[in-house]
Amino acid sequence: MTQDELKQAVARAAIEHVPSGIIGVGTGSTANFFIDELAKIKHKLDGAVASSEATAQRLRKHGIEVLDLNSVSELSVYVDGADEITRHMHMTKGGGGALTREKIVAACSRKFVCIADGTKLVDLLGKFPLPVEVIPMARSYVARQLTKLGGQPVLRQGFTTDNGNVILDVHNMQIMNPVELETAINQITGVVTNGLFACRPADVLLLGTPEGVRTLTA
Ligand code: A5P
Repeated sequence: MTQDELKQAVARAAIEHVPSGIIGVGTGSTANFFIDELAKIKHKLDGAVASSEATAQRLRKHGIEVLDLNSVSELSVYVDGADEITRHMHMTKGGGGALTREKIVAACSRKFVCIADGTKLVDLLGKFPLPVEVIPMARSYVARQLTKLGGQPVLRQGFTTDNGNVILDVHNMQIMNPVELETAINQITGVVTNGLFACRPADVLLLGTPEGVRTLTA
């Protein structure tokens, strides 16, 4: 099976976790397959909250109403991909640069269903560079602080987030304690969000393997 076929399989499996009402939708190639599946059950939905402009566009293209998060009190479920995920459901996200809105929508959701192909499951986070969204004027200051934490920050060239900020991709980070590191990076002035999802991990992981979709829970 190709990686895209594995992504499609988990996207289809995620539909079983979608109740009627309003849900949160992630960003990226796996989330895009999920949106395509969601279109088939759109009659069940009262709308969706998007974690990026790209996701909002794709939802609208399928005729799914996109709602403002401020008009919704709680979402039943949030479905999104990950760049890396552990068995403890800690993730690195933000490869597509949508980490801040993803974290906000996840925070408002009762359940986080992560959908990923098998290559995303790791024992230790850190091989995938950790994205950190930063207010542009604080870029150099934040980069110096991230270096003190042991990483090698690299500016994502030519990229601006949906919130008008820049991304530093931090290479070679030793992520032994994801909750501690997520909290420490958030303390750096000028950081908007970092791509560690450990304080609010996923609740369910649907993992695409050649043998079928495996379900892992926290
Ligand atoms: C977007 O900013 C990311 O958090 C994505 O959810 C993550 O990069 C996974 O993307 P793919 O599904 O494209 O691998």
